[in-house]
Formats: sequence, structure tokens, C-alpha cells
Amino acid sequence: MNKISIQEVATRDGLQIEEQFVPTDQKVDLVNRLGAAGVDKIEVTSFVSPKAVPNLKDAEEVMQHIERKEGVTYTALIPNVKGAERALACEADEVNLVASVSETHNLKNVRQKVDDSFANFKDIASFLSGSGIDINGTLATTFGCPFEGSISEDRVMTLIDQYLELGAGGITLADTTGMATPNQVFRLCGKVLDKWPDLPLTLHFHNTRGMGLANVVEGIRAGVTRFDASLGGLGGCPFAPGATGNICTEDLVHMLAFMGYDMKADLDQLIAISKHMEKEVVKHEVPGQIIKAGKITDLHEARS
Ligand code: COA
Ligand code: ZN
Repeated sequence: MNKISIQEVATRDGLQIEEQFVPTDQKVDLVNRLGAAGVDKIEVTSFVSPKAVPNLKDAEEVMQHIERKEGVTYTALIPNVKGAERALACEADEVNLVASVSETHNLKNVRQKVDDSFANFKDIASFLSGSGIDINGTLATTFGCPFEGSISEDRVMTLIDQYLELGAGGITLADTTGMATPNQVFRLCGKVLDKWPDLPLTLHFHNTRGMGLANVVEGIRAGVTRFDASLGGLGGCPFAPGATGNICTEDLVHMLAFMGYDMKADLDQLIAISKHMEKEVVKHEVPGQIIKAGKITDLHEARS
């Protein structure tokens, strides 16, 4: 069985939508703990407009204060060249560009038409060329849009092509508001990997409708080995109605570990960090289930 990469997004996708601003030192501490727990990649923050996402206005301080673990990729979301300048100054390993497949969602999210986003991405790519920073291209609303409904697979294929042409080394297909169904995931990922067999392809699922882990299983069946997930299941897009949390990292790792998949991430450490985050950082209940139920090997005493 293939090794599965676990890519943590709680400090970006999760904290961006929290009601309370999480203090910078707590963000740094979370990133450090996650790196120590063996996740493969951490989306640390985003270098976006602090007016658009005030919770991540401390992106520089966070990036500059984290400890970098060898073997962990530290990435940051950026919307424009200004974001690229900030990411370069902080020596991010990778930048994550985001365009939505849906025109309406793209307008809401980054106030641009999709074509204008890609024109912008070309400028980012030339700005970063030779810098050593990798580019990952994310397609939001790939599996459905809360405004437009279903999304054309041909359009997804065309936009992947555009990302690759401008030099993206990896692609993420994101299900921004949890509309993907397992058979759809299997079909689309099969198509993408048939066309680009060596593409580092990530799936980014939200569990909005309870289909997140089923979608992972079908993604793996189609050949995908990289998954975004958020500790405790935090997360959601502030620019999409009804958006809720990402698939939960420790629930994902728990499922895959007991299915026999090999991962670098350590389940017990992730469970401990998630409990810490719930109690000490966000200070409200989080959607993750394993921190409530325990692992399937945590047995109870049979009292008569
Ligand atoms: N970093 C910091 N500030 C930025 C910035 C960046 N990457 N990009 C733009 N800004 C600032 C500008 O300097 C300007 O500031 P001012 O009002 O003090 O002059 C302000 O933001 C508006 O800039 P403008 O270029 O007119 O952009 P806009 O208002 O059309 O907003 C985005 C476009 C993309 C910059 C903004 O909507 C954004 O950052 N969105 C974040 C989207 C996001 O994170 N979504 C969730 C994840 S998918
Ligand atoms: Zn997301």
C-alpha cells in the first residue's frame, strides 16, 4: 500500500474562521507541535489582506517564529504578488495559490474573475521564479459550488492545465463546502491521474455533509496519496455560506492507521494536540470524533 501524506491546515483554514483572534504565540506553538507530530506539510497561515481575514494578520510573526522540522513543508496561502513578496521575505517553502472553478465563488473570495486570477498567478510565478519557493495550485469549489451548483469536470481539467503551464508543482482539488460525493471523487481523480500520472495531487475535503472520510477512501482507490486535514476538524471558508470544518486530522489518521496505511504522522500525539487546542486555544468544542470517543483500541471495563 502507498504511503499517505497528511497535510495539516488548522492554523490557516481553521483559525481564519474562528470568532476569536488566536494569539500569535499560540499559533506558533500549534505549528511546532504539529511538526513534531510528524505531519508532512503544514499550511501555516495566509498572506492575504488583513482586512479580508483579520484572524491571520500576524502571518509574518508566525512564519518567522516557528521551528522548522526537517522533512516538513511549511506552506502559506497567497492571493497576489503582494502575498508572494511577504511569503518570500519569510522564507516559506511553498506558496499555495487559490482560484475557484466557480466564477461566483472566485468573485466572492478574491474579488476577481477566474481568468484575472490566472493572469495574476503568472505574475506571481515570474516573481518567484528562481527563488526556490514551490508553487501549489488549489482549485476551490472543484466538486460543487454553493452558488452555482455542479461544476464541469472539463473546466477543472482546463484549469489544472493552466496551473501546470505557469509552473505549479502540485495541484489541490478542494471541496470548499463539502459537496463532493465518493463516486464523483473516484471518477474525477481517476481522470486527472490518467492524464497526469506523476502529478502530486492533493485532496482537500470539508466534512460539511458527513461525506469527508468516505471521499478520502475513494480518493485513495483512485490513486491519490495526499490529503489536507484540520486538527479537531476546524475550518471553513468565510466567503462561502454554510461552510464548516475540514475533515479532522486525527480522525483521518485514526481511520487510515487502522486500515493499515503507512503515515509519518503519530496518532497519539495528534490526539493530544487536538485536546490541547480545544481546551486551551479555541476554547470551544471542536467537531473531531476520536478525541471524544477514543481509539477503537481504547477498551472499557465491563462492569456488571
Ligand atoms: N497582503 C496584505 N495586504 C494586502 C494583500 C496581501 N496579499 N493584498 C491586498 N492587500 C491590501 C491592499 O494593500 C489594500 O490595502 P489598503 O486598503 O490599506 O490600501 C487592500 O488589501 C485591498 O487591496 P486590493 O488590491 O484592492 O484588493 P481587494 O480589496 O480587491 O481584495 C484580496 C482582494 C484577494 C487581496 C482580498 O480579497 C483577500 O486577501 N482575500 C482573502 C481571501 C481568502 O483568504 N480566502 C480564504 C481562503 S480560500
Ligand atoms: Zn478549505
